[in-house]
Amino acid sequence: MHKRIPAFVVVLFLLAACKSTQKNAATPAFDPYHYTITKKVEAVNAAVVSAHPLASKAGIAVLKMGGNAVDAAIATQLALAVVYPNAGNIGGGGFMVARLSNGETIALDYREMAPAAAHRDMYLDEKGTANTQKSQLGHLSSGVPGTVAGLFAAHRYAKLPFEKLIQPAIELAEKGFIITASEARSLNNLQADLKKYNSVMPVFVRENPWKENDTLVQKDLANTLRRIREKGAAGFYEGETARLILEEMKRGNGLISGQDLQQYKAKSRAPHVFDYKGYKIVGMPMPSSGGLLLNQMMKMIENRDIAGMGFHSLGAVQLMTEVERRAYADRAEYMGDADYYDVPVKMLSNENYLRNRMKNYDPAIATPSTVIKPGELLRPESEETTHLSVIDKEGNAVSVTTTLNNSYGSRTVVGGAGFFLNDEMDDFSIKPGVPNMYGAVGGEANAIKAGKRMLSSMTPTLVLKDNKPYIVVGTPGGTTIPTQVFQTLVNILEFNMSTEDAVYKPKFHHQWLPDEVMTEKGFPPAVKEAMQKMGYSFSKERSGIGRTECIKVLPDGTFEAVADNRGDDAAEGY
Ligand code: DON
Repeated sequence: MHKRIPAFVVVLFLLAACKSTQKNAATPAFDPYHYTITKKVEAVNAAVVSAHPLASKAGIAVLKMGGNAVDAAIATQLALAVVYPNAGNIGGGGFMVARLSNGETIALDYREMAPAAAHRDMYLDEKGTANTQKSQLGHLSSGVPGTVAGLFAAHRYAKLPFEKLIQPAIELAEKGFIITASEARSLNNLQADLKKYNSVMPVFVRENPWKENDTLVQKDLANTLRRIREKGAAGFYEGETARLILEEMKRGNGLISGQDLQQYKAKSRAPHVFDYKGYKIVGMPMPSSGGLLLNQMMKMIENRDIAGMGFHSLGAVQLMTEVERRAYADRAEYMGDADYYDVPVKMLSNENYLRNRMKNYDPAIATPSTVIKPGELLRPESEETTHLSVIDKEGNAVSVTTTLNNSYGSRTVVGGAGFFLNDEMDDFSIKPGVPNMYGAVGGEANAIKAGKRMLSSMTPTLVLKDNKPYIVVGTPGGTTIPTQVFQTLVNILEFNMSTEDAVYKPKFHHQWLPDEVMTEKGFPPAVKEAMQKMGYSFSKERSGIGRTECIKVLPDGTFEAVADNRGDDAAEGY
């Protein structure tokens, strides 16, 4: 990043930050006007990997102040809400899976929920046709945000006062930071939508195009964050922020009510845990399909010699494709918020069931997906979620995936409050068989219901070895998330790859419907050709699938942290 900001402004920033240290004892120990992106670090004390270097630095700053990995995960998420508005958020939701230093494993669900006024057919017109515009854009697409409740629920496992964890985010919003080239590009692409889905124009709207190194200042957001600092979760779900959300809902005919906001609760859940060849894998349970899908896919390959087949061999890719297809068929039929629908988790993860599921697997041909209704896979380039992985030397490991759904969510910014609202309602099955923006279909299990949480694919995951943290991993990518985590783990655990290779090597994806294999640039053409001969269809190649953030604990106990090279993602450690 180049210098653009005169030195005296930096000095002023640092002075102001020092002043606030005295008041709030928290300072961003980094310069938001000059920063570089580090893709890999080896660290002794702690490591943070996230979608933005300033957010990773915010996490490290609170660790250096005496915080643990949970403190860092909270500070990193809050900083992401400022520096990575595409997916970092306070107007969305997420999941946190953690292993604490006392050996306990936890799963926190702060997924958005359907407002009380939401109902099953709310996106259907008089003829019963589904309107995905409404579930994907603007006020009606937003579920009740869960992130702030989630951050406070996580805080009980942290060490530092919340004020210290939110301070870097406040400073970054108040005084600004320089944006990266890719942020400038995506903000420029967003201009038309911003004008369409907002009546109070947010700071992101600009006459002249955004450029790399422009400073983004977000005063309204800084004020919202201050209210959260002063009043806790009530600073978001009640009072001024709630009032601004309700006004915004009124302007755009949204459904979120004051009662919805007040009643929102993050939920502590039992993590979805399974064994794989002696490793303990800890994942997210419903309402995320991530943990169960990963379990199904890993168990379906466990007794086959995939290591012997080799990375990107025809045999391994074809086997993994078939395994992915079978797991996703179950997702469409059976998975949804288990508080509202009886998800047969035990049955779906039962080893006999999974063995049976592979009975019709044929290594020589494609097993066609049973097409219920052909789904056109809509693949907007703007899809975006974000993952962060954190570890500390006390033995805490935290894996968080958080999202507004696609990039900048509903595109609606709460007027006067400065944050984007999610468009997570589209993750419900808005009509049986109608694909959502990731091409996923569903039915009763994931139908819309007041108070229910929409099914997710987010897969924040930990691998424990001898009951201690070994791998912390996750990625954005909509329905491709579970298959990317699956492949990253197989790359490390079976193909014995370095962490960098495991993250960077091209990936592929099958989700049952549509019946096609999606591949990433660099996927071996010979394997593709051979699979086409076996009956597989391939969709258009994608430039990138996911943005995986992975930390591995090395045999000497140090941490190898790798940020994906598919974006601005950055690893920090010390
Ligand atoms: O919860 C889900 O599965 C989706 N809303 C995640 C969206 C996502 O990963 C977009 N990112 N690339």
